[in-house]
Amino acid sequence: MNSSLESRIHTAVARVREHWRGTRFLDGLEPGVEGTSALLDVARLYRAWRLDVGRLQLLKGRAMTGLFFDPSLRTHTSMEVAAGRLGMTFVYLQAGSSTWSMAFEDGLVMDGVAQEHVREAAPVLSTYSDVLAVRAFPKLKVEDVGAGPWNPERGRDETVIRAFSQHASAPLINLESALAHPCQGLADMLTLSDLGGGSFKGQKVCLTWAPHPKPLPQAVPLSVVRAAVLGGADLHVAAPEGFDLDEEEMARAASFCESTGARITTTRDPDAAASGALAVYAKGWGSGDPREHAARAAGLRRWTVDAARMQNATAFLHCLPVRRNVIVTDEVLDGPKSRVIPQAANREPVQAALLLTWLL
Ligand code: CP
Repeated sequence: MNSSLESRIHTAVARVREHWRGTRFLDGLEPGVEGTSALLDVARLYRAWRLDVGRLQLLKGRAMTGLFFDPSLRTHTSMEVAAGRLGMTFVYLQAGSSTWSMAFEDGLVMDGVAQEHVREAAPVLSTYSDVLAVRAFPKLKVEDVGAGPWNPERGRDETVIRAFSQHASAPLINLESALAHPCQGLADMLTLSDLGGGSFKGQKVCLTWAPHPKPLPQAVPLSVVRAAVLGGADLHVAAPEGFDLDEEEMARAASFCESTGARITTTRDPDAAASGALAVYAKGWGSGDPREHAARAAGLRRWTVDAARMQNATAFLHCLPVRRNVIVTDEVLDGPKSRVIPQAANREPVQAALLLTWLL
């Protein structure tokens, strides 16, 4: 069994490499339509034979570093478990507390708080690590923004992940930045394809804005859009006035529609978007000046996903963590249509597929 499983994994990985030889997984579009489909096949194989794959220790002796500038439950655990099951050493670094504070700007006089520059940190970590992974959210907290004029580019700030991409020689995974959470997107593709019986091509998928007290980044909803487009879905994006998704990123994702047959419809009507959907994917996100978010979101509680909205939909999805009875009611989250736990479980196999593709 083990030698035939090993050979099946090698064959599946070779198929990914036929379509994708890149060493950066930053927005999730890098492997393209065929490469992504092949990656999902590796993930399915890993998921079906996880314990046997673990015994094979296919990546024994290899090492990976995960550098986190922000907290995580799922991303950290699933990445470390995937690496460990494949036989790798995983090093977890919490930026600024288990590491030195880091600077990213070129030409900086470093006489402030930061003790280390990314120009050294990224290449040094690359000497120890066969793969690097970095999580860094944009700074959108009202207390970070201050009282001055709002710079809309702040919500699109990819400084950290871009700097690592520029200065790291090791393959690099984005574990969530301002505009992308590609591992979540890949896991969401696997979940949607499970719901659709192996594919969700042509199926209606609803992505709906939902209330949240904070102006969260758009990384997850934009990754859902990319996932839906790569899989050829009939995507309906529902958001209230003033909460539209990033125009430039939407246009980039839409450029894949022609090749996959995907369609994107935007609407202000969450009930119409949810009706008949294979999945209703809820997420809170901010748009515009974060200091105005709470006031703008306060009157939008009808966007909370409840049983009535789910009546004609098959499944409820959310990337987690989720605020109960704000984003979604207990009744839906604890009910039979909720697929959030298998959705979270799918993080491990897709991330293992990435590691196998780069290191096997
Ligand atoms: N979905 C997700 O990325 O969860 P964490 O923030 O807990 O990693």
